[in-house]
Amino acid sequence: MDSSFAFSGSMLDTKPIPYTFFFFDGVPNPELTIEAANSDSLDQIGDITKVVDKEVKPAFFVHQPYRERKCDNCHDKERMGSLKMSMMDLCTECHSGFKKQSTFVHGPVAGGNCTQCHNPHKAKNEKLLLRNGRDLCLNCHDTKNIYKGDFHSSSNELDCLSCHKPHGSVNHSLLQKGVCTLCHENFNEKYKVVHGPVASDNCSVCHVPHRYGTEKLLLHSGRELCLNCHNIKQVLKNDYHTDLGETSCTECHNPHGGEDRYIFN
Ligand code: HEC
Ligand code: HEC
Ligand code: HEC
Ligand code: HEC
Ligand code: HEC
Ligand code: HEC
Ligand code: HEC
Ligand code: HEC
Ligand code: HEC
Repeated sequence: MDSSFAFSGSMLDTKPIPYTFFFFDGVPNPELTIEAANSDSLDQIGDITKVVDKEVKPAFFVHQPYRERKCDNCHDKERMGSLKMSMMDLCTECHSGFKKQSTFVHGPVAGGNCTQCHNPHKAKNEKLLLRNGRDLCLNCHDTKNIYKGDFHSSSNELDCLSCHKPHGSVNHSLLQKGVCTLCHENFNEKYKVVHGPVASDNCSVCHVPHRYGTEKLLLHSGRELCLNCHNIKQVLKNDYHTDLGETSCTECHNPHGGEDRYIFN
């Protein structure tokens, strides 16, 4: 068990858990804002902006059943440290539909190891997370595999969750729906004629965000990329391809789409 789970014995008495502890660096404290808003004084209006600007965040995010001290929702009454049932059954009793919704389920979720990412009582991070942002993921996934070299160009700071879902997905590799078009142009809208694999949103047959060695995150450089699917003999057979030499396919064809058949640049 992570030591951050430890809490003082005073939690077992009837005093409220000190989750009402606030400090000044998060979302606005509604109580302070309301107090200021109820005042008639113009000076106080100045204060409202101050309060909102400073941003107030609770020191802890507390899980609702824990805050309501419903310990026995989860624990054996006699032995507070042990759970009433398996973690998976316990968590999904209130948070239903974890396995069913997804075709691909994330390893630790499939194993019912919810507490490898969430603290069941309270946490400093939103959603009761043990760690924030990429630190959460890189606690298990080897940085060397994920950031082989020049990960996603200058955007090394991209959060894992901008492309992946944490629990499961209907898409392979736990990908978000329409993941690439969340940030990039939608070629299906841009071009009249869209290249086969692009039309089926299969960007990763050509681009691999976690690999490097080629420009533009491409799986292969030059014509290798195209000849992965197109038969070279078939291609060279036609007059218009006979003098190709070393010319790259993308000299003439746009890899994503175009205005006419044959997707020319
Ligand atoms: C939403 C379910 C839930 C609620 C409510 C809950 N707990 Fe827990 N608690 C857990 C889980 C899950 C663990 C981790 C068990 C594990 O990993 O084996 C845990 C661990 C513990 C432990 C042992 C680990 C440690 O932190 O030292 C104690 C003691 C404990 N809880 C006490 C309480 C008390 C007291 C309350 C009520 C104020 C409470 N819990 C409310 C789910 C809950
Ligand atoms: C007794 C019912 C109950 C059980 C059991 C339970 N939860 Fe919750 N959980 C809630 C409620 C109620 C909320 C707050 C309402 C909501 O956001 O849906 C919540 C919220 C959450 C949140 C979101 C917190 C936030 O800040 O938005 C997470 C994460 C979470 N639970 C994880 C777990 C995990 C992990 C377990 C198993 C250890 C678990 N829950 C077991 C009732 C439960
Ligand atoms: C690999 C880490 C990881 C594991 C394991 C994990 N979660 Fe989460 N969970 C997250 C992240 C990250 C979020 C926040 C998602 C967001 O903000 O979009 C989250 C959010 C949640 C929420 C808040 C509602 C939501 O979907 O945003 C609940 C409830 C929840 N998790 C329950 C669980 C339960 C139950 C389990 C175990 C079956 C579990 N989680 C296992 C990472 C994890
Ligand atoms: C507690 C350890 C743990 C944490 C934390 C964790 N993962 Fe994983 N992840 C795993 C395991 C185990 C697998 C399964 C590995 C396998 O099958 O080879 C996996 C697999 C994956 C896969 C591949 C899934 C597939 O279908 O091929 C992706 C993508 C992934 N994790 C992303 C993430 C992201 C994003 C986060 C942070 C939100 C994260 N992981 C946090 C343990 C973890
Ligand atoms: C720009 C989008 C994007 C971001 C950001 C991203 N990934 Fe991925 N990730 C992908 C895609 C696409 C695949 C599938 C690659 C494939 O099909 O070959 C993938 C595959 C994976 C895999 C499984 C295959 C492998 O290479 O091991 C893991 C694990 C993974 N990502 C973890 C992470 C983690 C951890 C982070 C954050 C540090 C992250 N990803 C950030 C897009 C992204
Ligand atoms: C969260 C936003 C985001 C998502 C999601 C995203 N990208 Fe990007 N992508 C970026 C940013 C930012 C850049 C950097 C632009 C720059 O450097 O000018 C970039 C750059 C690229 C480049 C150009 C790389 C280079 O070397 O010039 C390619 C190719 C690319 N992304 C493909 C993808 C693919 C494929 C996906 C889906 C798996 C994807 N992106 C998902 C934000 C995103
Ligand atoms: C058939 C292979 C292939 C597929 C499928 C593909 N791309 Fe590309 N993409 C390329 C090639 C080749 C380049 C480099 C073009 C160049 O350098 O002129 C490129 C360049 C890019 C760039 C960089 C743009 C620039 O102007 O530098 C982005 C962003 C991009 N692709 C996104 C995507 C997205 C999003 C998808 C899925 C909807 C996708 N690609 C599908 C082959 C492909
Ligand atoms: C993942 C497989 C795949 C890769 C890689 C691939 N293509 Fe294609 N390509 C297709 C499919 C599928 C079609 C549609 C076939 C059809 O409609 O008969 C197609 C069609 C075409 C067409 C004909 C378009 C039309 O309207 O008739 C051209 C030109 C083309 N691809 C060029 C390229 C070039 C250039 C590359 C490399 C940048 C490339 N392809 C890489 C699968 C691929
Ligand atoms: C010098 C420009 C040029 C280059 C370079 C080029 N093509 Fe083409 N491609 C054409 C023209 C012209 C057509 C047919 C237009 C027509 O029939 O009107 C065509 C048609 C195609 C077609 C659809 C018809 C067919 O033959 O199946 C495919 C697929 C194709 N090219 C793939 C490729 C691949 C793969 C490469 C790289 C090895 C490549 N092209 C390089 C000019 C080029």
